[in-house]
Amino acid sequence: MTTNNPSRRRFLRLAGLGAGAAVVGPRMGADRAQRVVDARAAARTVARTVARTAARTAAQDEVLEIALSAVIDPVQLRPGAPTTLWRYRAAVTAGDPARVQALDGPFPGPIVRLHQGMRFQATFTNRLREDTTVHWHGLNVPWLMDGHPMSLVAPGATYTYAFEVRNPPGMYWFHPHPHGRTGTQVYRGLAGLLIVDEPPDDPRLTALPADLVELPLIVQDRTLDDVNALVYPQSVMGFLGDDVWVNGRERFTAAVERRPYRLRLLNGSNHRILKLGWRDGAPVRVIGTDGGLLDAPVDKPFVMMAPAERVEILADFRDAAPSEVRALDSLAFRDDSMAMGALWPQGGKAEVATFVVGGGPPDGAGRVFLPIAFNGRHAEAADFAPAPALAAPVCRIEPLRRDADPIPATRTIVLRLERGRFTLNGRTFEHDAVADDEIVKLGAEEVWAFVNDGAGMGPGMGMMAGAHAMHVHLVRFRVVERTTDGRHAEAYATVAAGFVDEGWKDTVLVMPGETVKVRMTFGDFTGLYLYHCHMLEHEDQGMMRNFRVDA
Ligand code: C2O
Ligand code: CU
Ligand code: CU
Repeated sequence: MTTNNPSRRRFLRLAGLGAGAAVVGPRMGADRAQRVVDARAAARTVARTVARTAARTAAQDEVLEIALSAVIDPVQLRPGAPTTLWRYRAAVTAGDPARVQALDGPFPGPIVRLHQGMRFQATFTNRLREDTTVHWHGLNVPWLMDGHPMSLVAPGATYTYAFEVRNPPGMYWFHPHPHGRTGTQVYRGLAGLLIVDEPPDDPRLTALPADLVELPLIVQDRTLDDVNALVYPQSVMGFLGDDVWVNGRERFTAAVERRPYRLRLLNGSNHRILKLGWRDGAPVRVIGTDGGLLDAPVDKPFVMMAPAERVEILADFRDAAPSEVRALDSLAFRDDSMAMGALWPQGGKAEVATFVVGGGPPDGAGRVFLPIAFNGRHAEAADFAPAPALAAPVCRIEPLRRDADPIPATRTIVLRLERGRFTLNGRTFEHDAVADDEIVKLGAEEVWAFVNDGAGMGPGMGMMAGAHAMHVHLVRFRVVERTTDGRHAEAYATVAAGFVDEGWKDTVLVMPGETVKVRMTFGDFTGLYLYHCHMLEHEDQGMMRNFRVDA
């Protein structure tokens, strides 16, 4: 019987992803148990798919309907016992089957590819043992399609999400949103990518190297115990896993060609903040943010990614020597929060992904053995360069500012720890409640100021100041101003050069002592939407509120 053969099971799982779904990933040969990803094959498949879907755009490719379910699945992640994951499974029921793809790894996934203007429908069945919803993070959809915690889907029940894709091209994602359980459900493996592809003549795309291939990378931290079960202790402050997983793989290594790559990164962690940088110190060429490609690439020394943030990076391997190894690390930064993370603290240095250039073996099996001496789990004092003193306030977004005066905020949202819970203006989530100051007019342009006040007053409380990842449903926004009160200047100096505020965003990192102002327009729908911290333990503990858009 083959069911206790993990390789066999994995094959069945991938094959079961959907009728005709393109399986993007390492070949399902005898070598499939090893962890090296042949990104070359994956990239070629993606490139073919993109070209083909682009060609069809003008034709009858106006609808995509999928059957989506959340299931409980044992998956072989490490030698020994399988790990019980909660996963999305998708099958195309109408439209181009190539629009649903497997992620290049065991979890999460899948990838749903759409184009602006098409109709999308997901008939979702909950095969978990608890309520859930599906939220389309970053999408401009009617509120009943938004996966609001009020629209719960009970175990065994089905809910149909249907909407027109109004968003511009970009990398969005989907995940559960039931109040109090989002952290658990995402942690167990429920998350997928929703990519709205650019039309082939998008000038931002044509400005990039012509033979660009893409590689989506979902970075998450996870802890497995000694029987390979996922460990998720309840923590108000925030959960931090022991190890980095990229596309569900540890010590992620991809064999790449000597070509330019479009790395499409999602920080899919619950609480982990990433400070992504190339190990050799090369600048990170950022080409996109939450809301799609930038007008022009920008170089950063490193890139900060809060949970739920996306960043697209141009990784150019054309000038690399054969077999050259390039690696993306999460660099050390200083964190003053009380988040749990004994083995790998917030701000601790870690290896994220390794790329071996043209390094595959001649037989194409993709098996590459690398000396990985670096385990990178522990932040050491030496990792923190002495922080230069920071003058307050700091305003880095000069081009977006209209004059020297602070941009007036329409609303101010104070983020603060009160009585052991993180709050938004002193409030926590109440499922359908909306305060008077949480009602927005349809079509209004507003500036919201997120003020990270840390732990508020009290002896020693200033020591417990953590960052937050503020996310607003329905809209996309521009960061228009950042100021800091200087209380956490040393910590701030270890991260400030890595914010990517040049593009459209829906989630923004707000450091302790910092005020971040974002500008957005509230269209196209009326209804009840959420704004919250995307650090999922904060959110689940109530750091989330409704806002209502009224006509
Ligand atoms: Cu990623 Cu309220 O969402
Ligand atoms: Cu969202
Ligand atoms: Cu938070």
